[in-house]
Amino acid sequence: MNFLKFKNKKLFFENTAISKVATRIKTPFYLYSLGQLRFNFNNFKKSFKKINPIICFSVKSNSNLKLISELKKLGSGADVVSIGELKIALKAGISPKKIVFSGVGKTEEELDFAIKKEILLINAESEAEIRAINKIAKKNNKIVSVGIRINPNISAKTNKKISTGKKDNKFGISMNACFEIFDNQYHYEYLKFEAISVHIGSQIMDINPFKKVLNALSNFNKKINLIGINLKYIDLGGGTGIPYSNSEKKFNLKQYANLVLKFKKTNNVEIIFEPGRSVCGNTGVLISKVIYLKDAPGKKFIIIDAAMNDLIRPALYGAKHQIYPLLKNSSTIKKNTEFVGPVCESSDTFISYNKYQKLNEGDYVCIDNIGAYGRSLASNYNTRPYCAEILINKNKYKVIKQRQKLESLIN
Ligand code: LLP
Repeated sequence: MNFLKFKNKKLFFENTAISKVATRIKTPFYLYSLGQLRFNFNNFKKSFKKINPIICFSVKSNSNLKLISELKKLGSGADVVSIGELKIALKAGISPKKIVFSGVGKTEEELDFAIKKEILLINAESEAEIRAINKIAKKNNKIVSVGIRINPNISAKTNKKISTGKKDNKFGISMNACFEIFDNQYHYEYLKFEAISVHIGSQIMDINPFKKVLNALSNFNKKINLIGINLKYIDLGGGTGIPYSNSEKKFNLKQYANLVLKFKKTNNVEIIFEPGRSVCGNTGVLISKVIYLKDAPGKKFIIIDAAMNDLIRPALYGAKHQIYPLLKNSSTIKKNTEFVGPVCESSDTFISYNKYQKLNEGDYVCIDNIGAYGRSLASNYNTRPYCAEILINKNKYKVIKQRQKLESLIN
C-alpha cells in the first residue's frame, strides 16, 4: 500500500495535502508518513510470520530518533554500525538484547561500549576484530555473544557501489576462515560464538542471490555442526529492494519468506533480519521549491532548492528518484526537462524527463522514496544546513527534527 497519492490533482501523504505543509515550513524539508512506516514494518513482520524472526531495523538507512522510537513500539530491534547509531537505538528504548552491531572497523571505544551494554550480538568482520573483542571482554570480565560475518562471494546483482558479498569487498570473512576460527574457538575464552551473519548488498530485486546465500549457508552450517558448533542465530542481513518507479515490480517478500522458512527448519536456528530500505524507503519524500527556470540549448533546467547535499543518491549511484508536482495541471511541455539543485557540481542533478507539466518559479515539488539513505547520507556541502524533518500522522503533521541552524555552521 502506498500512502503517497494524488487526490483531485493535489498530492497527499496520508490525509494531509503536502502543499499545506509546504506553505508553512521552510523548504527543502524531509516529510515522513507514520502510517507508511507502520504499514511497512508490519508488512515485513507479517510476511515472515511463520519464521518469527528478530527484526533489527538498520539504523544507517534512517537514524531519526522519533522514527526509530515508533519502530521500537512495533517490536523492532536495531542493526547498528557505530557507537552513535547504538546510542540512538538505546535512546529510542530498544532493548540491548535486540541490537546487533556490524561493521569492519569497530574501534576499541565502540566495542567496549557495546560489551558493557550486553547487546545481542557483535557481528565481527575479521580475525583481528575477534581478538580485540576477546581482549576487551576479558578486561570487562564478561562473556560476549559474537556472530561472524561471512563473505559468501555471491553477486547481489545490484549497483556495484552497494554490493558487499563478493570476495574483493571489504566485508566479512570467507567460510574457510570462519571454519578455522570456530575450530579454534578455545583461543577465545571470553567469546560465545552464537551466530553467523551475511549481507551481500542492498536494493536487491532478484530472489536468486538470496537463494544462493541460503544454500551456501546451509552447507556451511552442516559442516560446522560436525565440529560441534551449533549456532543459535543466523543473521540474514537486509538488502530487499523497493521499486523506485511505477514500472518496477515489488520484491516478493512472501517468496523469500518461503525459502527462509525451509532454511530455518533444516538449520534449526533463530533468524535475524536487518531490513532498512524496505521498511523506511517509501516512508519519506523531500519537498522542495522551484527557485528558477532556465532555458538552455535543447533543454530546460528546473533549479530547485534541494540539492545533492540533501539527497546524494542520484549523484552517487545514478539513482532515479521520481519528482512530482504538488499540484497537477493539464499543461505539457515537450522538452527535455532536468531537475537540478543549487550546489556547484554538475553531478548535482536529480532526474530528467522528456516532457513535464509546466512549472513556475515558486511552485513546490516532491522527490519520492527518500526515506532510506536520504537524510542519513546528507551533508553540509556548500555550507548548507540539514533540512527539517516532519512527520505526518493522518491529517496532522509535526516537526520531528528542526532544521539545522545556519549559525551552527558559521563558526
Ligand atoms: N545490514 C548490513 C550489515 C548492512 O550493511 C546494510 C546496508 C543493511 C543491513 C540494510 O540494508 P537494506 O535493507 O537497507 O538494503 N547508501 C546506499 C545503501 C547502502 C547500504 C549499506 N548497508 C543507498 O543509498 O542505496
